[in-house]
Amino acid sequence: MTSPGSFPTVRPRRLRRTPAIRRLVAQTRLHPADLVLPMFVKESLSEPAPLNSMPGVLQHTRDSLKSAAAAAVSAGVGGLMLFGIPADRDAVGSQATDPNGILNVALSDLRAEVGGDTVLMADLCLDEFTDHGHCGVLTPTGAVDNDATLDRYREMAVAQAVSGADMVGTSGMMDGQVGAVRAALDRSGHLDTTVFAYAAKYASAFYGPFREAVDSALKGDRRSYQQDPANRREAAREVALDVAEGADLVMVKPAMAYLDVLSDVAGSVNVPVAAYQVSGEYAMIEAAAANGWIDRDRIIVETLTSIRRAGAQIVLTYWAAEVAEKLAADREL
Ligand code: PBG
Repeated sequence: MTSPGSFPTVRPRRLRRTPAIRRLVAQTRLHPADLVLPMFVKESLSEPAPLNSMPGVLQHTRDSLKSAAAAAVSAGVGGLMLFGIPADRDAVGSQATDPNGILNVALSDLRAEVGGDTVLMADLCLDEFTDHGHCGVLTPTGAVDNDATLDRYREMAVAQAVSGADMVGTSGMMDGQVGAVRAALDRSGHLDTTVFAYAAKYASAFYGPFREAVDSALKGDRRSYQQDPANRREAAREVALDVAEGADLVMVKPAMAYLDVLSDVAGSVNVPVAAYQVSGEYAMIEAAAANGWIDRDRIIVETLTSIRRAGAQIVLTYWAAEVAEKLAADREL
């Protein structure tokens, strides 16, 4: 048996000596195809609107959404995840299932605009559509009604499939949502519409800026349905259930504060694994960079690389188009 080598024979720094060596031995790489861009479209706008808490991110009009999507697709992003903000909200989120609702018409717009050049995804959740801001419908006493919500999700999944979504992103954390949506899609003939399950989704303060992005009406919190940040084992249970119910891909969310969960999930499933670098993760980095406290571009690449290294094949990030463009430019060198 050979004993493990040691200094001075063994010098790990040899593999870090030049940029070419570092490039050769890099274990984790970023590629535009691994990046998914979340986008917001808002019915009542006549001009795109910037978001205070997410500098560089816009709420789009239907028109500006099309051009921004086309630009992201030509930069090579792997997919687009669409969120809609309707002009009218009600207790059951009617606009989510109306074929003329903003999310559904924007999906058809994008299907026409980008064809098959990227993967078109839609957020499947009621929180943007309800006047109370919860992800489901409520019981008379104000609790989120799991099974009544599943009926709404079934209908929403079919509406999104009809409007051209390749993938529906079940993000409401209702029990049984993946199975319910899969069955509804199959019954309506949408056998190929893919379920992208937000499987381990935590009740996180990192979603703060997203509330501005979707003009959220929520008062209170989502702790009765999203996971407790204290729990690691519970993520395994949620993910296993989603895979058993037919999830085609699974996601962990948020990303950077949950890399342990991500690593567990990546080691335990046989479907593609994604992570969502959420609004608060984006906002913190942009804010620190705006103050000159950190190197923005390096931190973006470092965080995305870390999320990939921890086990995410796919990363949803508000920097997707920018990073995809830079990666493409680097490859031309
Ligand atoms: C639910 C949904 C949320 C996010 C994505 N899908 C909000 C929530 O669960 O409270 C947050 C994404 C982000 O913060 O970037 N529709």
